[in-house]
Amino acid sequence: MKKTWMVTGTSTGFGKELASLLAQKENINLVATARNLTDLDYLDQYDQGQIKKVKLDVVNHDEVKAAVNEATSAFESIDVLVNNAGLGYFGTFEESDLESVKYMMDVNVWGLVDLTRLILPTMRKQKSGAIVNFSSIGGLYSFPTLSFYHATKYAVEGISESLQKEVEPMNIKVMIVEPSGFRTDWAGRSSEKILPEIGDYKFLTEFLNGNIEGAHNEPGDPKVAAEIIFDQVENNYEALPLRLPLGKAASNLAIEKYEESLKNFKSLREISVSADK
Ligand SMILES: NC(=O)c1ccc[n+]([C@@H]2O[C@H](COP(=O)([O-])OP(=O)(O)OC[C@H]3O[C@@H](n4cnc5c(N)ncnc54)[C@H](OP(=O)(O)O)[C@@H]3O)[C@@H](O)[C@H]2O)c1
Repeated sequence: MKKTWMVTGTSTGFGKELASLLAQKENINLVATARNLTDLDYLDQYDQGQIKKVKLDVVNHDEVKAAVNEATSAFESIDVLVNNAGLGYFGTFEESDLESVKYMMDVNVWGLVDLTRLILPTMRKQKSGAIVNFSSIGGLYSFPTLSFYHATKYAVEGISESLQKEVEPMNIKVMIVEPSGFRTDWAGRSSEKILPEIGDYKFLTEFLNGNIEGAHNEPGDPKVAAEIIFDQVENNYEALPLRLPLGKAASNLAIEKYEESLKNFKSLREISVSADK
């Protein structure tokens, strides 16, 4: 039986690479979603009736509902949901524009939540399915000038980890993807950047400019990332990892974060447990 993958944000970056890969696979139906359907013309060359393009802005609840209806009526099942659509935001905690970061939270977190909650009934009925949530190494490890981006990705991590424990008995898997820098539009057009104006934060200007200048030259190849994600879901379904760091920096920082945390928790062990009386 054919498996159906539904992927958000397939206009550029990881989403586009994943959609291109899926569109060329046998036995895969693809629901490719984007805010602007003309961005998905690249899929036409592969379309033999197995591809459904759906307009979807993940913060528009009516569009989310309609997208789920279109997907479930086009194909028999929804086997894999990839919540990929996302934005970034660079700015110090004090100087970030709260309207903008709340909107990023809407896209990165509430959009993912909305779509996942509407897909889950189908997966529960099927008693199978995989939910692949794009976090970031920034969902585990924090840098300056990214506090609110981290807030969105830490939220994705917490939601995903908890959800995994709820849906495991229904044979539904959850995988969190944690990339480091990849050559997509994320650090470019998808991330607003606010340079520090408060003198005390000027020391972060160089770090922020480094990110702006590094956009599109990151070490990670999103095509390879798409292949790894596909391979994990299709060939490692039973042992799907909850967390999948992608890229050397992601792997290094994930290990560093957990090793440091482990050391810290062990050194505090006596004090920590002493609080239970
Ligand atoms: N690239 C990296 O270095 C990196 C590292 C860690 C994590 N990530 C994560 O990877 C995911 C994909 O980003 P990317 O790197 O592939 O960047 P990208 O090339 O900029 O792609 C972002 C995608 O999200 C879509 N999007 C933005 N707002 C949306 C909304 N309201 N509704 C629906 N779609 C929306 C964009 O659509 P439009 O074309 O309409 O704007 C685009 O398709 C994000 O969650 C990002 O946080 C990226």
